[in-house]
Amino acid sequence: MKDRIWSIDKIVPGGAGMARLEDGRVAFAHGALPGERIQVDDVQAHKGYAVARSFQVLTPARERRVPPCVLAERGCGCDLMHAEYAAQLEYKTTIVRDALERVGKFEGLPPIRVEASPNELGYRSRVRLHIDEQGRAGYHQRGTRRLLEVNRCPVARPELDRAIERFTSIVREHAGAAAGFSEVELRVAPGDARPSAWLVPRERTTRGRDAFERDLASAFRVVVGRDPDSGVQRWPLADEAMLHVPTRAFVQVNWDVNLLMVEALVAGARERGVSVFLELYAGTGNFTFALLAAGLRGTAIETNTEAVRAAELTRVDAGLPEAKFVIGDSLDHLRGAVDLGGADLVVLDPPRTGAAPVVPELLRLRPRVVAYFSCDPATLARDLRSLRAGGYALEAIRGFDMFPCTHHLEVLAWMVLAPA
Ligand SMILES: C[S@@+](CC[C@H](N)C(=O)[O-])C[C@H]1O[C@@H](n2cnc3c(N)ncnc32)[C@H](O)[C@@H]1O
Repeated sequence: MKDRIWSIDKIVPGGAGMARLEDGRVAFAHGALPGERIQVDDVQAHKGYAVARSFQVLTPARERRVPPCVLAERGCGCDLMHAEYAAQLEYKTTIVRDALERVGKFEGLPPIRVEASPNELGYRSRVRLHIDEQGRAGYHQRGTRRLLEVNRCPVARPELDRAIERFTSIVREHAGAAAGFSEVELRVAPGDARPSAWLVPRERTTRGRDAFERDLASAFRVVVGRDPDSGVQRWPLADEAMLHVPTRAFVQVNWDVNLLMVEALVAGARERGVSVFLELYAGTGNFTFALLAAGLRGTAIETNTEAVRAAELTRVDAGLPEAKFVIGDSLDHLRGAVDLGGADLVVLDPPRTGAAPVVPELLRLRPRVVAYFSCDPATLARDLRSLRAGGYALEAIRGFDMFPCTHHLEVLAWMVLAPA
């Protein structure tokens, strides 16, 4: 291949720097930043595109910096840590616009703004570590199953960082027993002194497991696999209410940014004059309770039974009116619905794969307003495209930097039924 000097135009969804080669093909280099010229040493050619396996930066971008963590240079998940924070936000704005234009085929988009995280470092309230067959804990190197051992993590909140240090030191003392587990999720709710450690066991058992778990229990609330009682942590919502979240239920990674998203949802619902909501993929009620506190009524659907049980604790604790929580599948619920029971707003916050299966049902039931939260701009763009084809207009779009130092973000899109 002749063309080994690439000029990087932008960061694309997935986090790579993208260049356009002279022969018209697109090319991707993970770690290269917009504005940079790079010399590619090793290229993997695919039909219609190329990927750099290794490269040197000939002209660095002004925004390039030495990342504040050595693991970032070795390929942990922090794939934008080597760019100044303001530049990261710009790249993410482009990622969202690109997805909407290329995947969603939107033209004339409303302005896109990505809200900064109050903290660029020290923001994560939970991390998932892999544990290998030798009993070492760490992150996987990007795109591989190679383990990068971790002791500290600068994007973790200070109390979680301490928990990671403690956990990995106990693991080193009990490596043989730790090898009986494949993964752990460590969490610390803000203001909670006791972190949780949810361990996923491998099929084989290992010697010394009791001693390992006992040592862990001196510092952590330990949950193993599908233990019947996973315990509940309390996460501070606005108005001094506390969201109860079981260790095995979903909780947002960056709590400060989560509170901004909750606020944006309530403000957007008020602006659009909605009074009754239906929420899909509701989790423990992170959005539900804010909508109820704002005077709306509604129903929330969630598959995780533990999450729904915890939601009842939150409701009672916060003295909020009854919300109807339904344990079940969002699609089943919509399929079984003859109408929306008066709901003029549907809120959805699906997993990364998006909400493609439920979109046809939404188009059948036709809520006036749809508020769609997404952690994947590509699946969001695909689903918004379908909603637009069914008569909805994209009224507003806003990004939230839930995951600084990585290419990931959360997006809230407001779709409104266009007048017939
Ligand atoms: C991204 S989380 C969002 C949860 C919540 N909105 C929050 O902010 O904490 C997605 C949630 O959808 C739930 N879920 C996944 N598939 C589902 C389905 N088919 N129907 C209902 N809930 C589902 C998961 O258990 C998880 O709680």
